[in-house]
Amino acid sequence: MLESSAAPAASRRYNRRVERNLQKVNIREKLASFSEHWSPRVAGELNGQHVKLVKLQGEFVWHHHQNEDELFLVISGSFRLDYRNARGSEHSLKVGEGEFVIVPRGVEHRPVADSEAHILLFEPAGTLNTGNVESAMTVKTPLKV
Ligand code: NI
Repeated sequence: MLESSAAPAASRRYNRRVERNLQKVNIREKLASFSEHWSPRVAGELNGQHVKLVKLQGEFVWHHHQNEDELFLVISGSFRLDYRNARGSEHSLKVGEGEFVIVPRGVEHRPVADSEAHILLFEPAGTLNTGNVESAMTVKTPLKV
């Protein structure tokens, strides 16, 4: 598009913002760029929320998030979401490709994947992967991908 040098500064700022932010993301390419398990990568940000990609394999730690609801969308494979009700009894939900589950804040949960699963997470920026628990699996500052 031609842009006259007389274009108002606001228009130029608008165009720069569009160029910087309006970019498509290929989920499979992003997933192919890392291999670590349980290490979420930030693939996008909007309205104070992060879109993260993560590879699961094995068992994660039990935890909850005090203030954040957390969405898990399965891109490939499947995983089991273990969770506890108010009395502490355990339940499980199998989540497959093309399905998502939202874990409400405060709910104790643990994802488990018998074989590698690729997941898109959608949750407020700053959400800690291990929630209220600090462990070797805690990733304080997820990398961008
Ligand atoms: Ni969680």
